[in-house]
Amino acid sequence: MSEKGLHLGLIMDGNGRWAKMRHLPRTAGHLAGLKSLKKVVLGAINQNVKYLSLYCFSTENWKRSEEEVKYLMSLFSSKIYGELPFYNENGIRILTLGDLSPLPEDAKKAIADTIRATENNSVITVQLAINYGGQSEICQAVGRAVADGVTEFTPEILRSYFEHPEIPPVDVIARSAGEIRLSNFLLYDSAYAEFIFCDKLWPDWNEEDVAFVLKEYSHRVRRFGGVK
Ligand code: IPE
Ligand code: IPE
Ligand code: MG
Repeated sequence: MSEKGLHLGLIMDGNGRWAKMRHLPRTAGHLAGLKSLKKVVLGAINQNVKYLSLYCFSTENWKRSEEEVKYLMSLFSSKIYGELPFYNENGIRILTLGDLSPLPEDAKKAIADTIRATENNSVITVQLAINYGGQSEICQAVGRAVADGVTEFTPEILRSYFEHPEIPPVDVIARSAGEIRLSNFLLYDSAYAEFIFCDKLWPDWNEEDVAFVLKEYSHRVRRFGGVK
């Protein structure tokens, strides 16, 4: 963990399965997932997490049905700015990761307004990964570096062209709903991250699941290639 504080990444998976078990449309699972998200953010604050990266929509999620994609976009338009009092009461600064350009205009505006309105909050920084893919993130950084005339790369030089190089690399990535894969999340920065996979579906998560993840993390010995 950097001296800036702990960085937790969450792959919020299982909304569709949660809905299916209840004979509800997948969209109902996404709405339920939003409720658990607020509990999890409060749990992260209680556990002194300083950076929380949340996988909201991957570069591959456009493959889903038009109805589901539209619904998720409508959540970005209506819910992100709509939670402004929650962010300000709890000191939550919102940032995003990913290429927002293909998003609907109202979603882009809601996100830009939220980032501006929370920029002075300092309890926790929450990065929403939207139209995010780890492979695209690396390609875009290379593109920016090349445009800047960089010809010789080190891991640090390339990382300085990422969207938020000031944010320390993720320390621990947890995934809900039992899948044991990264699905293109934080590929570069997860080089030495710890991984925790939980069976519980995302809409069932709350403060206690964050506490569980961090307790598990506290038992991990991080060597970064060295010897402890
Ligand atoms: C995660 O839940 C939310 C997003 C990817 C937007 P899923 O929608 O992937 O839920 P499952 O995996 O189908 O259960
Ligand atoms: C990863 O979940 C993306 C998000 C949580 C936003 P997916 O459900 O899209 O991942 P796969 O398809 O199971 O790998
Ligand atoms: Mg899934």
